[in-house]
Amino acid sequence: MDRQTIVITGASDGIGAEAARALARLGHEVVVVGRNREKTAAVARELNARHYLVDFAELDEVRSLAALLLERHPRIDVLANNAGGIFTPARQVTDDGFEMTFQVNYLAPFLLTHLLLDRLTSCRGAVINTSSLANRLYGRIDLSDLNAEGHYDPTRAYGNAKLAQILFTRELHRRQGGQGLATAAFHPGIVGTGFSRAPGSSMEGVYGNRLISKLLATPRKGADTLIWLASTARDGTWPSGEYFTRRRAARANPQAKDRRLAEALWNRSEDMLRIP
Ligand SMILES: NC(=O)c1ccc[n+]([C@@H]2O[C@H](COP(=O)([O-])OP(=O)(O)OC[C@H]3O[C@@H](n4cnc5c(N)ncnc54)[C@H](OP(=O)(O)O)[C@@H]3O)[C@@H](O)[C@H]2O)c1
Repeated sequence: MDRQTIVITGASDGIGAEAARALARLGHEVVVVGRNREKTAAVARELNARHYLVDFAELDEVRSLAALLLERHPRIDVLANNAGGIFTPARQVTDDGFEMTFQVNYLAPFLLTHLLLDRLTSCRGAVINTSSLANRLYGRIDLSDLNAEGHYDPTRAYGNAKLAQILFTRELHRRQGGQGLATAAFHPGIVGTGFSRAPGSSMEGVYGNRLISKLLATPRKGADTLIWLASTARDGTWPSGEYFTRRRAARANPQAKDRRLAEALWNRSEDMLRIP
């Protein structure tokens, strides 16, 4: 097996931590990226892996993370943009000026991918985005209100951010697929993790409910499609640019097929991030 360098964000807990464990067991070099210092260091220690801290609510931290990764890792074969979550019922705005759900789930991973793109393409690598079924259930992107200033609903903001990730996955494939970069987005299932359990989170009632939580998939099961996508990225096992559930290409929100929207979202994202 080809040993690959796999960078996983949100690897301090839940789906990301389980994927990191499994991919390290398969012999890959896993780079553990998390936000919480203790949790991130603990996963890295367990895997004898390098680790980095970043808060996606601060875009300068994303820029610093990318610089460190480029300096210390001559190869980056896979970038798994897995960090994310759903937030409080009240709209929050980051210091960068963007709605929190949009920035943490979509804009920060877009920036990180952009900054690592040359390294990823030179490795004929892959970008894998942890999306969600919420893209289909709640997503309806309005390019004129990406920051949800007109109307904010936390579930819709989450659905929109996860739909934006799929549009990004498709557009990145369209732009870079010819250079050998593979891209994928996936829904991990409804998984019993710390996801959305924070007090005040808009889905606390589902994920924090004792009875319901017994029905949720384990983090290991939730990580399965990510492990499969990352470990087979080089084999041409899966079609690039697609959205997957349970290792299969799946139907996403109808807007996900809108090529003009994907291109316009890409351009708007570059403008927001002042990417020339
Ligand atoms: N659980 C589900 O049912 C479900 C369903 C669909 C999609 N997803 C998606 O799956 C991904 C992983 O979630 P999970 O279920 O494994 O939940 P989790 O156990 O809560 O893990 C979330 C991870 O994201 C990191 N994170 C959260 N906010 C961050 C921020 N501002 N900056 C940097 N890192 C941040 C967390 O870091 P720290 O712990 O270090 O703070 C943690 O490592 C997320 O993108 C989520 O949207 C989950």
